[in-house]
Amino acid sequence: MSRLDSFIARMSAQRDILNHIHQNGLLIEEGAVLEIGLGNGRTYSHLRQLFPERRIVVFDRQMGAHRTLLPEPEDFIMGEISETARQFAGSNAALVHADIGTGYPDKDAMVMEWLPDVVASALAKNGIAVSGLRLDHPSLIQLTDLPSTKLGSYQFYRRS
Ligand SMILES: C[S@@+](CC[C@H](N)C(=O)[O-])C[C@H]1O[C@@H](n2cnc3c(N)ncnc32)[C@H](O)[C@@H]1O
Repeated sequence: MSRLDSFIARMSAQRDILNHIHQNGLLIEEGAVLEIGLGNGRTYSHLRQLFPERRIVVFDRQMGAHRTLLPEPEDFIMGEISETARQFAGSNAALVHADIGTGYPDKDAMVMEWLPDVVASALAKNGIAVSGLRLDHPSLIQLTDLPSTKLGSYQFYRRS
């Protein structure tokens, strides 16, 4: 698979999972959405469309979002996510989406040492996690793949 094909597969899987969560009403009634890795803000704009009534808190080491849709200043948490997201432990988030994979196995392995714990501790019971990196954690139960998700290496989980 070319890198272009794999990028498109990843983006399709990401969008399909988020749409599936929305269409099937999988979010618990209360709780914020945490967007881990704002980047250009494309996923942020999709989350805003799907969940307009939710607070969406975004994390990145820099502000790189497109100017047409910036998060509220109080909802942008700048810095190293391994440190900043820990403030949200116990915050009972309804959804955490993490798109911070690099495609370099050694770098991703280091992120996977802290990301599952950060995600699980921010989520409410029955909250949903969506991630491009595997989240191996005893309280995160992987949900059944959608047709596009294996190809795109994206997965989603419910917190027990
Ligand atoms: C692949 S991009 C996210 C793309 C995003 N989904 C979009 O729609 O544009 C990953 C982003 O996460 C940020 N990032 C990755 N690891 C990080 C870390 N450990 N701390 C802070 N920011 C991080 C990068 O700066 C980058 O902007």
